[in-house]
Amino acid sequence: MTEPDRGSGSGSYLDAAATAPLRPEALDAMLRVFTAGQANASSVHSPGFRAREEIEAARARVAAALGARPGDVIFTSGGTEANSLAIVGLSLASPRGRHLVTTAIEHSSVLESCRYLERVFGFELTVLPVDGEGRVGPADLRAALRTDTTLVSVGLANGEVGTVQDVPALAALAREIGAIVHTDAVQAAASLPVSVGAAGAWPGGAVDALTVASHKFGGPQGVGALVARSGLRIEPIIHGGGQERGARSGTENVAGIAGFAAAVSAATAQIGSAALALMESRDALTDRILAEVPGARLTGHPTERLPGHASFTVRGVSGESLLVALDAAGLAVSSGSACAAGKSEPSPVLLALGVSDELAQTAVRFSLAGPLPSETLDRIVRVLRAEVLRGVAG
Ligand SMILES: Cc1ncc(COP(=O)(O)O)c(C=O)c1O
Repeated sequence: MTEPDRGSGSGSYLDAAATAPLRPEALDAMLRVFTAGQANASSVHSPGFRAREEIEAARARVAAALGARPGDVIFTSGGTEANSLAIVGLSLASPRGRHLVTTAIEHSSVLESCRYLERVFGFELTVLPVDGEGRVGPADLRAALRTDTTLVSVGLANGEVGTVQDVPALAALAREIGAIVHTDAVQAAASLPVSVGAAGAWPGGAVDALTVASHKFGGPQGVGALVARSGLRIEPIIHGGGQERGARSGTENVAGIAGFAAAVSAATAQIGSAALALMESRDALTDRILAEVPGARLTGHPTERLPGHASFTVRGVSGESLLVALDAAGLAVSSGSACAAGKSEPSPVLLALGVSDELAQTAVRFSLAGPLPSETLDRIVRVLRAEVLRGVAG
């Protein structure tokens, strides 16, 4: 079996939406912290002060990359925790009401946090439908909003089908009635310019809180941030020593945070040119698969999608068998989201887009880590065609 080439950031590793390859800048930053000598950032001695300086420098870098102020950045253990803190922490602290609005295609950390508030705290939850391309209709959101709507959470881009949502327009509707607006930007921020702050920037200061995760930028896993407008009250979900302005207790992951900040800076510094290169490869891959693989259909929005994302259903084969065949050819891909991979149930995201149960089981997702060599493109098409022909013969 050929090993997927991860080091180059491109090659045969086509699962960047699950975890992007580690950037050298992130590795250097982590090694710097580890070799300087590990210390607790709350300790009152020189090594402790240096650890604190690492964290605050990282906070400033993450904030700058996302158009936020350093004080808005709350470091967490990743996207899942940041989403949980946003949904649970902001909703419980808000005096507005007990009504939440989200969409049917959110990451499980958003949906399950909403369901937790529903189950344990008596919140009411409205889950908005999406159209066949994965977009939320502004009319559906408008109809769902109430005077007691506490929080609206709409993801900026979906990790499974890559559809990008018009968050500025949706957020404007929610803000009209005074709801808190959160967006899960875990997938979007790594490949699209995202800014919470400056007026006129996208999404135009329209959101109150935004989630990012280090490993989607090429930083280490297990680190992320909730960027929350200062002044917003947050009820902590992890209790203890009061780190991270009291919103997230626990000794900080100094090396991880430094690696995260280095990856965010490196990714956002070249986001425009990187996105163009990804789009070129993604479009070449999409065109060839649609033309040469019988039964293949693109899922998600044809144009409003992440630059490195191409997801398909392939009638007549199983997504799992495609995965195994591609892996045997040294190509690392997913059948849907990483969390859905390995499960045999059809993806709730594809079902929400109106894909049938049966077809949803045939899903395959390519998420590019860099430009795709033509040899890799040929190999992908060859493997997919062979699997489809094998399926027909079987
Ligand atoms: C859209 C989205 N939100 C949240 C998460 C969870 O982030 P983490 O893996 O850092 O917990 C993911 C992970 O795939 C994601 O794709």
